[in-house]
Amino acid sequence: MCGIVGYIGHREAYPIVLKGLKRLEYRGYDSAGIALYDGKDIKLSKTKGKVADLEKRLLKEIPTKGTIGIGHTRWATHGVPNDVNSHPHYSNSGNLVMIHNGIIENYDALRKELINRGYTFTSETDTEVLVNLIEDVKTKENVKLGKAVQIALNQTIGAYAIAVFDKQKPDEIVVARLGSPLAIGVGEDEFFIASDASPFIEYTNNAIYLEDGEMAVVRRNKGVKVRSIKDDKLVDPYLQELQINLEQIEKGGYDHFMLKEIYEQPNAISDTYRGRMRVAEGIIKMAGIDDNLAKLLNAKRIIVIACGTSWHAGLVAEYIFEELVRIPVEVEYASEFRYRNPVIHQDDVVIAISQSGETADTMAAIKLAKENGAFVFGVCNVVGSSISRETHAGAYTHAGPEIGVASTKAFTTQITVLSLIALKLAERKGTISNSDFHYYLQELERIPEKVKKTLESNDHIKFIADTYKDAKNFLYLGRGYNFPVALEGALKLKEISYIHAEGYPAAEMKHGPIALIDEQMPVVVIATKKGHYEKVVSNIQEIKSRKGKIIGIVTEGDVTVKELADHVIEIPETEEFLTPLLATIPLQLLSYHIAVMLDKNVDQPRNLAKSVTVE
Ligand code: F6R
Repeated sequence: MCGIVGYIGHREAYPIVLKGLKRLEYRGYDSAGIALYDGKDIKLSKTKGKVADLEKRLLKEIPTKGTIGIGHTRWATHGVPNDVNSHPHYSNSGNLVMIHNGIIENYDALRKELINRGYTFTSETDTEVLVNLIEDVKTKENVKLGKAVQIALNQTIGAYAIAVFDKQKPDEIVVARLGSPLAIGVGEDEFFIASDASPFIEYTNNAIYLEDGEMAVVRRNKGVKVRSIKDDKLVDPYLQELQINLEQIEKGGYDHFMLKEIYEQPNAISDTYRGRMRVAEGIIKMAGIDDNLAKLLNAKRIIVIACGTSWHAGLVAEYIFEELVRIPVEVEYASEFRYRNPVIHQDDVVIAISQSGETADTMAAIKLAKENGAFVFGVCNVVGSSISRETHAGAYTHAGPEIGVASTKAFTTQITVLSLIALKLAERKGTISNSDFHYYLQELERIPEKVKKTLESNDHIKFIADTYKDAKNFLYLGRGYNFPVALEGALKLKEISYIHAEGYPAAEMKHGPIALIDEQMPVVVIATKKGHYEKVVSNIQEIKSRKGKIIGIVTEGDVTVKELADHVIEIPETEEFLTPLLATIPLQLLSYHIAVMLDKNVDQPRNLAKSVTVE
């Protein structure tokens, strides 16, 4: 996820683009850049770091003059965050300059073709490939920039929101979108381009939101022409009147980042497997795994190290790896692992999981594992983070920036990456059949739709939240794959509502927690069809006979639990190992709504930080 912004009109572009970047920084903050046309040439300044770093640098580097400009704030996907990989990117001739939010999946093949035709590249990005492809089409076919963009985009696979302009025709910006947002603010003889309306809300209330598969040529003093990228048909754009304030826009219309991030999960999960999983061909391609396949396949043991929610994702991975790959797995709190004297062998593979990639305990545990000769594989969300650099190899989740302190989309995308790794290894090891492998890929591909379906229960979950918001304690129970989900549900509630909550394996209830159950105690039981269902039903009966209030998370169409429980929340059926990706969603929403009803600071709960860089 990145933020893009642009301006063309009669004012100085620089202050508008720079302020716009600050507003969009929530979309990515590992690097930033601006390109301005000063009347003669395109002047470009970009840097690794925050928009504030760019501002310091920019004033020294380039004149901030000109009435056309574009800017970008980056969340790295291809290539580590550094100055060179930052956007905007020039084409080889220096005539075109472009910004891009998204992923061009076939960039490698396109890059090779362009190299054969004499193009050179300075960065590792897919964006530099695309801007040169546009230039190549423009010169070869002798067409205008708009046409060149259209032809080039029809050769790409992936997702994008782009803005590009040509110094030989500095009175237009060409924009296009597929899978990434793009809004055009329409003012009096001036136009604004941005990933959301926040950069231009103080200048105009009128906006055109491009639909997927549309592009537009935005001309100074002339207006906006929208067409479909595929068949070049002119589209009548819908000019929308915005009735929102700035804060709402940055949160995409949601009241809190946490809610926005919960709703982003269908896209975050598909962004995480997209480009890595080819379902029709039955292939999983992940550079970090493919380059280290022998090491991973020969591992005698996997040790997962992580903290908090990432540790819960590790517990899910334990179940997945042991079942599918038949490798023994141990899941360790990084903070415990680093301070005991763990037995680590050279043929152990350590998987370190961290959203931020900066957690101090996880970092120290990685160093210890490395000192003892283990191979360490990282699963991080923040590209170029300390942990992603410290590990021998890794795979990023593509969740995009997670702003809410309570982790949501990071958890489900971690499970997605770990499932891909397990499936790849299982297929290579032959521990699952070919037909199961194909079926599992298909099922993983269906998960985003099923998450969307699960999110439709929001109003019902809100009603349940209202019923139990004043409870002093909650118990969360689940078995098998749903046990880590129970832990995660309890953690979410504790973190943001400050209600005491415990997660337990359902069978452990009778070894202690059952003593807590009375008519005041809401018990959330994850009782999905494939998760030791009958046994969990027995546990529910035990709770019922002690008058506990039961909130069941059940598979669609369930009748047994429905009869026993006070409330049920249905989730679509899926393969057992993928159930956590669905069962977690209602628990995130439940804690969110309770916290909102209790008037708590959902995005920044007391005493917590997004990235725990101290022990
Ligand atoms: C919970 C939460 C924390 C983090 C933990 C590890 O919602 O956000 O428990 O999961 O601090 O952080 P990372 O994954 O960044 O290492």
